[in-house]
Amino acid sequence: MTGMTMRILFVCLGNICRSPAAEVVLRAKAAEAGLDLVIESAGTGDWHVGEPPHPPMIHAARARGYDMSDLRGRQVSGADFDRFDLILVADEANLRDVEALRPEGDATPVRLFAPYAGGDERAIPDPYYTGDFDGALQQVERAAAGLIAQLQ
Ligand code: 4NP
Repeated sequence: MTGMTMRILFVCLGNICRSPAAEVVLRAKAAEAGLDLVIESAGTGDWHVGEPPHPPMIHAARARGYDMSDLRGRQVSGADFDRFDLILVADEANLRDVEALRPEGDATPVRLFAPYAGGDERAIPDPYYTGDFDGALQQVERAAAGLIAQLQ
């Protein structure tokens, strides 16, 4: 990794809960580890473009020491395949929706994020519907730790 900046994009459905949480958590863990990463997040949907993250997600993150308040929603596009080295998604629906945007001939990996935790978690259940914002954040922290270990 020395001398290289890896660019990672997190994608979920609304870009107001899971992917912005992953963005701030990985950014914090990368800084702690001294890893040079560029990290952004986006949603497959466009409902929350320009909006800050969902307030209960901001509050859950703040309680664990992460500031999400400056983030604003944006929608993922085919151009992101050129801009990022790795696209990490929150669930299988995100995986399908992002793959549908892949430009012909592009080889950027698109992967589920949760398995980086090393257990049998496949998806991050959407706290927008489950209400479990802290649980989602803890799952994101486990996956981010696994990803950092893999990059080191
Ligand atoms: P996220 O959660 O994908 O983790 O940001 C959602 C937030 C909002 C909506 C769906 C999922 N929505 O339909 O507005």
